[in-house]
Amino acid sequence: MPPSEDTPVARPLPRHVGIIMDGNGRWAAARGLPRLEGHRRGAERLFEIVDACIDLGVGTLTVFAFSAENWKRPQDEVSGLFKLGEWLLRAHLARLHRRKVRLRVIGDVNSLPDFARAPLIEAVAASAAHEAFTLVVALNYGARQEAAQAARLLAEDVAAGRVRPEEVDWARFETKLDTHGLPDPDLIIRTSGEFRLSNFLLLQSAYAEIHIAKEYWPDFGREQLETAFRDYCGRERRFGMTGSQVQGAPPAS
Ligand code: FPP
Repeated sequence: MPPSEDTPVARPLPRHVGIIMDGNGRWAAARGLPRLEGHRRGAERLFEIVDACIDLGVGTLTVFAFSAENWKRPQDEVSGLFKLGEWLLRAHLARLHRRKVRLRVIGDVNSLPDFARAPLIEAVAASAAHEAFTLVVALNYGARQEAAQAARLLAEDVAAGRVRPEEVDWARFETKLDTHGLPDPDLIIRTSGEFRLSNFLLLQSAYAEIHIAKEYWPDFGREQLETAFRDYCGRERRFGMTGSQVQGAPPAS
């Protein structure tokens, strides 16, 4: 029987949750509002979800705030998103410190406009010692771009004689990814009913469970997060093994 809304959230919860916050535009369109209003409402949701993750005991949350492909959007939407990001940080910085949240950014932040990049870099540095929770914001991020950069960095090591080609394995490759030092995501949530990963944490999500929520991101709150966790807790994670191995039962002959 599928879990109902009354079923308590079971354990173990995901250590690291990734969220593709999709549907802001459609949420706004359905109400005859400008797309940026959808993003604004979505931005407000973000901190409700951060609080819920902290309260429930999740250690790391990575949110896809701006993809490397999002530059193709209309110019006013792109600049509106960065203004919103800057406002969001200013409005919630004290709260992040209070809750001992370490802020981290993945993606090519060097190409962000100065007014958005500078306070972000400052906030990342100022929160580096916090250990209660890690909020990772993917900004100008694309998994393929991240993999290409990791390959480039490793190739430089090989060319300089620091690494032999036969020493290149996943463990070494992983050290060159933006996410180095973070646990792999256990659960990826995508809102708005779309079944796509859209260049988000593709390598890190090799064994992640995926939950698709039908709600648009501005309608995704604590209740929907708990539904996603119940779904996650009902999955059997086998990591390439058999079901009986995972359950500790003797293998069938
Ligand atoms: C996807 O919805 C959402 C985004 C591209 C932006 C997500 C950003 C926030 C929630 C606000 C925080 C912003 C920053 C920069 C920190 P969509 O616009 O693709 O929705 P649609 O598919 O319905 O059009």
